[in-house]
Parts: sequence; C-alpha cells; structure tokens
Amino acid sequence: MGRGKTLPTWIYNLLFVLRILMVAEAQTVYSIVEESSPGTVVGNLAKDLQLDILELEKRHFQISGPNKKYFDVNIKTGALLVKDRIDREELCARKAKCSLEVEAIVKSPLNLYRFEVQIVDANDNTPSFRIPEIDLNVSESAFTGEKFALPKAFDADAGVYSVKAYKLSHNEHFALDVQNAGDPTVSAEMVLQKPLDREKQPLIKLTLTATDGGKPAKSGTLLINVNVEDVNDNIPVFDKPLYKVRVPENTPLGRAVIFVHARDLDEGINGEIQYSFINQDNDNNVNTFSINAITGEITIKDELDHERTNVVELRVQAKDRGTSTRASHCKVLIEITDINDNPPEISVTSLDSVLREDAPLGTMVGLLTVKDPDADKNGVVQVKIINATPFKIKNTYKNHYSLVVDGALDREKVSEYNLTITAMDEGLPPLSSTSVITVHVSDVNDNAPRFKERVSNIFVKENRPVGDVVYTLTADDPDVDENGKVTFSVISNNNNQGNNNVASVVDVKADTGEIISLQSFNYEELKTFQFMVQATDSGVPPLSSNVTVNILILDENDNNPTILAPYSEHGSVNSETIPYSAEP
Ligand SMILES: *[C@@H]1O[C@H](CO)[C@@H](O)[C@H](O)[C@H]1NC(C)=O
Ligand SMILES: *[C@@H]1O[C@H](CO)[C@@H](O)[C@H](O)[C@H]1NC(C)=O
Repeated sequence: MGRGKTLPTWIYNLLFVLRILMVAEAQTVYSIVEESSPGTVVGNLAKDLQLDILELEKRHFQISGPNKKYFDVNIKTGALLVKDRIDREELCARKAKCSLEVEAIVKSPLNLYRFEVQIVDANDNTPSFRIPEIDLNVSESAFTGEKFALPKAFDADAGVYSVKAYKLSHNEHFALDVQNAGDPTVSAEMVLQKPLDREKQPLIKLTLTATDGGKPAKSGTLLINVNVEDVNDNIPVFDKPLYKVRVPENTPLGRAVIFVHARDLDEGINGEIQYSFINQDNDNNVNTFSINAITGEITIKDELDHERTNVVELRVQAKDRGTSTRASHCKVLIEITDINDNPPEISVTSLDSVLREDAPLGTMVGLLTVKDPDADKNGVVQVKIINATPFKIKNTYKNHYSLVVDGALDREKVSEYNLTITAMDEGLPPLSSTSVITVHVSDVNDNAPRFKERVSNIFVKENRPVGDVVYTLTADDPDVDENGKVTFSVISNNNNQGNNNVASVVDVKADTGEIISLQSFNYEELKTFQFMVQATDSGVPPLSSNVTVNILILDENDNNPTILAPYSEHGSVNSETIPYSAEP
C-alpha cells in the first residue's frame, strides 16, 4: 500500500489502522496457479504479517489449520511456499472462485494469522466425453435440416479453460450447430445437410472434437457412428429386361427352364424379393410353367407341344416385401423347339373306285394328302409305294400327291392291288406311317372266247335218238360278266356232203354249247359232216372266235350182209368189208 505525499495525514492514519485490522482479521490474500510445483513461492508471509524475520525460528513460525498440508513457510526468509499438489478441480470442482483458508501461528507470544490463498485455474484438464463412442440411428429418409442432439463434452476446468468449441470431422452429410449463447456449457447438434442413402453408405463414421479455451487448447473426441436406417426406396431390378431360352418340346415336367433374378438394394424385408407371373391377358400358356417365388426358378408344369405353341412369353414380377411394396417386371421368352414326335399322316382324299385295265400310263387313280406337323426336317416327308406295282406316287403340290398308273394292267392277271404306301419324315430318327390302298382293276373286253382247239372231231354212233346231246362245246373267256358271257351259234356249213342244211341235222344251244341231234344218223346215209360254231361274248363290242366241228358217224351192225356188185360210184369205196363170222 503506497503512501501518497498528497494525502492528508488523517487519511493516512485511517488507512494504517485498517491495515492493522485486516492483518488481525487474516485478510491477506495470495493467489497461486493450481498445480504449481512444491517450493513455488506464493508470497512473503512474514513481511506481510510484519513479523521480524530474525525471530521467526525462535517463535516457531508455522502453517496450521485444515489446509496446512498444502503450504509451508521458509523460516529464514518468511516466504510462503507450495508444499503439496494443489488441484483446483479437486478442491472446488467447477466453482468459479476457489480459495483456501490458511492459518499461520507464532508463539511467545502466541498469535494466529488467517490468510487466504486463491487457487487460480490452470488448463490442466482435457475436454472429454462420458463414453468414447456413440451410435446414432438415422433414417435414410430424414429431411435436410433435421437435427440430432450430441452429448456434451466435460472439462473440469472452469471459465476460459472449459469447453468452448466443437468441431465435426469433415463429411458431406452433416454440419454442426453449436449453441453457446448464454449457456454455461456449450452443446452441439448435428444438422443434416444432404440426404442420406443407405444403399451408398450405410454407416458414416464421424468424429466430434471438443476444444477448451486454453492456449494451446486441449481437446477430446467422440466417435459418432451414424447408422443409416433403411427405407424401402429401391425397386427390385432384374439382371436383364428380357430372358430368352430354348426348350425342346419333350422336356419332362418339373424340369427347370431358366432362373430369373432381381436385386433390391434395400435391406431386410425391403429387399426381400418375391417372384410371380403377371397374366393380365389370361394367357393359358402361362399355366404351362410355374415360378418359385423365392428362387425365381421357372419350371415346366404342363406338357409342352411345339405344334401347339412354339413360343411362350411370360411376364415375371419381382416384388419386395417392404411396408410399401415396390415391384418391377421382366419378360421371359421361352422358345419351344421341335422334336420329331409326330409321324406323317397319310390320308386318301379321293380314289377312283374302279380302274379300267386298259388305263394308259399316267392315269390318275387317287389323291393323297400327307401331314406332318413337325417343323423343318422333322416335317419333310417322302412318300413311296413299297411293293413293286405298276403304280407310282407323284408329288403334285406341297403335301399333295397323286397315285398314277405306271405300267400295263391286266385284270385277268391281277384284278386288285393292295398298295402299301409309306410316308417317312427326315427327322432323326425318322418317323413313318404306312397306309394300304386297294385299287380294283375293272374288266375290259379284251379277251375273245377261246375254244380248246381249232377243230373238234366228234364221233357219234348212228341210230341215236333224236334230241340226244351229241356233244357240249366249251369256250373260255377270262373276261368277267358280260365280257365273259359266251353264246354259241352256227355260222356256216361248208363242204357238207349231201346235206347243205346243218340246221336240219343239229342244233347248237346258244347258251350251253350243247350240240343236239335233230335226226337219227344213219351211217349208211351220212358218214360225216362239218360246220362252224362261233362263240361270242357279250361285251361291247363283242369278241368272238370259231371252231370247226366235224361230226363223224360211227357204224353199227344194223344191216344184213348183202353182196353187192362192185360199186364204183364212189371212187373211195371199192371194197366190201365182210365180217369174220359171215356165213359162207
Ligand atoms: C388285299 O387286302 C385285302 C384286305 O386285307 C385282302 O382281303 C385281299 O385278299 C388283298 N388282296 C391282295 C391281292 O393281296
Ligand atoms: C374262223 O376263225 C379263224 C381264226 O380266227 C379266222 O381266220 C376265220 O376267218 C374264221 N371264219 C369265219 C367264217 O369267221
């Protein structure tokens, strides 16, 4: 306390008294920075207490009282020294003001002095968070501007050395909003700046750094794990918009044809996909297949038939199971390829019921149609007649064929042909079918009746009764019906001896060929006669042939022998035959 020369004497005196009082009331105040090392001089206590340095030792000058462990005095110099570690935070926690009441005593005479040591804060504490790491769950649908409170950092130091600022590690999504207006402690919030996307970054690791106001500042950190929570914001996406596959039509039921696959970037049920067919057009072909809802495997449910349907178009939907489901679809084209599973089918579209045996080469007998619904080579058909016949098959147009005559016909030799026709396709292995066509050859009058020989010599005994059947002529005609129906007639008589009129001697029955005698022959009168018989069939025009009939009369012993004068009227008969038994 200075002593101003200008001050009036009474003021000086007053101040002096006050000072005495202050000392007596232990109003001496020191200050020391906390954590000062032992031995640090706080102040000259002896001088401030106006004690004689030389008497200090003799009067046992010492520190006492409850806080005596912190301080000591130097008896030689009277200085107040730091004796033990003084931690302001331990003594006063976060109180703004921190001071220790200290006592010093001297003996002879005994006196007690009280003084105060203010503990000045030092930045000896680091800001720290209660836990080193926190998890923060934030929906990916959070709006920008949404705020997320962060834990505070604590710093045992007070005032400027307490937490003054927060800093968030660099990132594109979150900014920091620090509130310190009027608050004793500073707190911070994270503010969403840019929308989150779990599918891009499901976890954002941030570091929050709290710094105090020291120079240099001390800092503590907190790890913030931002778990971005899924929202069903992704649709399932198929690997391909169009799947194509070829399946032979004979693929067995239950066989897998193809897998479809879609991805959904969302997690949990938001990303769980279920597959199904979309059949808006009620297409029956869709029912030929089934799809596994979980795996996307498409299998054959019903029999395939290339001939019925060669391409099936399926529309497959992939739907996630999120709360508000999202779906997408793709197309699957299944081409059903042909297998040679249909034999050719022969059908006779028309056939002439009869074919004249004189039909010329190339005459069309019938029309055939061959069907093979298989595709390509499996449906290409060769049509042939297996057995050797005077017929052939001609391809007229596409699958139409004609059966034509390819050789001479003769009903009398073959009147009916069973044509075995095969149709064989070019599949591997080939399939074939056969069909038998019966062609009937109709008769043409191409055969004349035929006698066994050109000349018939008929021996007839004389004296046979009138009306006797002398002989029966036969003539064969291989033609049938009218063409083969033979009638006989006498056409001429030539070179007849004696009797020109055959009609008076014999009758030839037209239908049976029986030669009937109209008179009893007498050898002695008529020995032989001849005539010609014609056999005619009933065809149009009729055909005929003839036979020469010689009737030879045989003698019987119907006359008594008479001796006749040599008879030479007939040059040929110049002798008389006399039986052996003739009487002399
Ligand atoms: C043709 O087939 C029919 C019926 O099988 C049979 O009755 C007939 O005798 C056959 N004809 C020939 C010439 O083989
Ligand atoms: C009888 O048949 C032969 C041989 O066919 C023929 O030459 C002859 O002219 C025929 N006679 C009569 C009268 O028709």
